[in-house]
Amino acid sequence: ALSVKEMESRILSIKQKLGSKLFIPGHHYQKDEVIQFADATGDSLQLAQLSAANKEAEHIVFCGVHFMAETADMLTTKQQHVYLPDMRAGCSMADMADIYQTEQAWPILQQLFGDTIIPLTYVNSTAAIKAFTGRHGGACVTSSNAKELVQWAFTQKQRIFFLPDQHLGRNTAYDLGIPLKNMAVWNPHKNILETNEPLENIQVILWKGHCSVHEGFTVHHTEVVRKEHPTMQIIVHPECSREVVAAADDAGSTKYIIETINRAPSGSAWAIGTEMNLVNRIMKQHPDKHIISLNENFCPCLTMNRIDLPHLLWSLESIEQGQPHNRIQVDEYTTAEALSSLERMLARG
Ligand code: 13P
Ligand code: SF4
Repeated sequence: ALSVKEMESRILSIKQKLGSKLFIPGHHYQKDEVIQFADATGDSLQLAQLSAANKEAEHIVFCGVHFMAETADMLTTKQQHVYLPDMRAGCSMADMADIYQTEQAWPILQQLFGDTIIPLTYVNSTAAIKAFTGRHGGACVTSSNAKELVQWAFTQKQRIFFLPDQHLGRNTAYDLGIPLKNMAVWNPHKNILETNEPLENIQVILWKGHCSVHEGFTVHHTEVVRKEHPTMQIIVHPECSREVVAAADDAGSTKYIIETINRAPSGSAWAIGTEMNLVNRIMKQHPDKHIISLNENFCPCLTMNRIDLPHLLWSLESIEQGQPHNRIQVDEYTTAEALSSLERMLARG
């Protein structure tokens, strides 16, 4: 087996050889050993947009998870090929909204509510779910623009069907003044709507999905921080539950968390509730600030962490040898419908 140094120098030499034909986007949640070789870092949407803007790159080695590579494939040209260094790098949240379950849910919801619902889909979802959304007049959202898109959706229809993350959906709708009792949960395992409220009052239908990483932050963790570090501010990602977001001082996307800490004065103290690799990186970048993870066990995203030095090298070598592994290619039909939901988002957020 190659040593770390040997792997690093092989990666560097392949990067030099392929030059501008190769583009390596790296999501904020990737390991440092991977991020050091990234040509750009960002959240999933920024990275897909950067891939699309980079017309020279023929090979895009996406260091992130499967749905991000799919989005990059859909936004880039036919000549640009997208690869995922490890096919096991999925997203448990995206996998919670299966297209077959969604196709079963939709006619039931139509029966209950008639033609009053518009789907909104977090970009953390499969291309098939994005296509479903596009087909029914809906749009994608990211954690950075969810508010704008929920507001837009209510100009189109009376009700929103939000997939696959119930927490981002609930937190966003709550911030816009929608009472929690007017939000029902769609249970895709039982095909039922979980609510005690009269149906006419329901404004938001939340798919029963979640991020297993961000569910690792609890109200108990916020109480421990309040007790042990009374002057510390707590900032969390809106994929955390409503209770945790309510107990925190602030909540926002990874981009928002990064920008908030960048702006924070030297000496300020922060407990951050988001993925481990990002929290560790923020801690290293701000030695003048007191920063901890909201959960002392840090909460890694295991699937993000599938991408490591050996997998990155394996992927790059396969491209160098002209037989690339793990190409991510969304079929044309799905791409056309999914693009309509992505474009509705890009036009507004
Ligand atoms: P953002 O980077 O859009 O905040 O999303 C967080 C996330 O969980 C990515 O998988
Ligand atoms: Fe999916 Fe959560 Fe990991 Fe993001 S952090 S890739 S939403 S499991």
